[in-house]
Amino acid sequence: MSASSQSLANKQILLGVTGGIAAYKSADLVRRLQDAGASVQVVMTPAAQEFITPLTLQALSGNPVHTQLLDPEAEAGMGHIQLARWADLVLIAPATADFMARLAQGMGNDLLTSICLATKAPIALAPAMNQGMWHNAATQANLECLIERKVIMFGPAEGGQACGDVGPGRMLEPLQLVDAAAGLFTPGSLAGKTLVITAGPTREAIDPVRYLSNHSSGKMGYALAEAAAEAGANTILISGPTQLKTPARVTRIDVTSAQEMYEASMAAAPDCDLFIAAAAVADYRPAQVASQKLKKGAEDSITLTLVKNPDIVASIAALPRRPFTVGFAAETEQLLEHARAKLQRKKLDLVIANNVGDTQIGFNSDDNAVTLVDNSGIQALSQRSKTQLARELIAILAGRLDKHPASEQAK
Ligand code: PMT
Repeated sequence: MSASSQSLANKQILLGVTGGIAAYKSADLVRRLQDAGASVQVVMTPAAQEFITPLTLQALSGNPVHTQLLDPEAEAGMGHIQLARWADLVLIAPATADFMARLAQGMGNDLLTSICLATKAPIALAPAMNQGMWHNAATQANLECLIERKVIMFGPAEGGQACGDVGPGRMLEPLQLVDAAAGLFTPGSLAGKTLVITAGPTREAIDPVRYLSNHSSGKMGYALAEAAAEAGANTILISGPTQLKTPARVTRIDVTSAQEMYEASMAAAPDCDLFIAAAAVADYRPAQVASQKLKKGAEDSITLTLVKNPDIVASIAALPRRPFTVGFAAETEQLLEHARAKLQRKKLDLVIANNVGDTQIGFNSDDNAVTLVDNSGIQALSQRSKTQLARELIAILAGRLDKHPASEQAK
């Protein structure tokens, strides 16, 4: 994997295209950024649309192209403020002399300049214009002003120009721009890795209206998915029913029952480096699922026969080319003893034990406190938010993954 791919993995790049002949290269740039692992949203100025159609960039980016500031429909979808917040980097390629002038003046007279005013992300320009326009005192003054305001300049390159002139003003090539953009970011600790995380409860149907389940909210698993994606991992979240929003940059697969979670996990795990089982999976399911709603009878008690569900995390750990496999242990007593037993029985690389008997830190709470248990010993992480804990767990797991031979086997 190239350095660009590591640094741009999961980065969100807003590509601004302004009206210059080099706009045709923006199509290739979209692809190259995506090849490096970035998500790309494209914003075009009206002049850019004279050189290349929004449809081309929409087809390549896989996202609708944004063109209008004063379009109620677009604002209702991803409006200029949302786009400004979404971006990890605003890259404008090509950036014309006119655009540089408007940016230097702080104008917000179209969608792209408004985004530039609103964003907290770094802004990088790849200038592209005739060499005379580049040398013009006004352009040079604008350049100086933009550099002073920490706008980053990629290029321009020197050479033959579309108009026949020779000199500075050529846009850098797409691959050079990808490398330059990658240079702005440090690679995440899980860049280049694929992670599969199970989260939430499962529901085991009794009849069309009833099921067996538990109190898992999914918060712990979703926080881990979010932290993994932030760390640059290609993150797949296999989720039971929850009320939570999918974290940014995470691919979510929805399942209901343990059997469905097992199938989705077995399909995803062979290609992953790290598998984390944070879901609260029902150990048993009703032997029969009634096709019609069960009616109350004369009996004072009835018996529900349950059969064992497949053990998902143990099945992953038993794969011949297994990922680094991490399970949780949800316990109400003898936390460490039970966690150690699970480590051995399920043949896991690591168990994260949590006391679900404490309402502050178990199911559906915002906080958690855990103890990591593996064959080398234990490590306790005291109570903190699940978001904070997830970031620390991901940092620890990234370190273990680097040292562990299982991560090599997954490749
Ligand atoms: O979702 P939240 O509300 O945020 O709560 C978080 C949590 C308490 C659910 C979470 O931190 C947690 O402990 N998840 C594991 C819950 C659980 O089912 O633990 P267990 O000790 O019963 O299972 C041990 C491990 O085997 C777990 O990794 C579990 O996902 C896995 N398992 C269990 C049964 C099964 N059939 N297949 C499995 O993979």
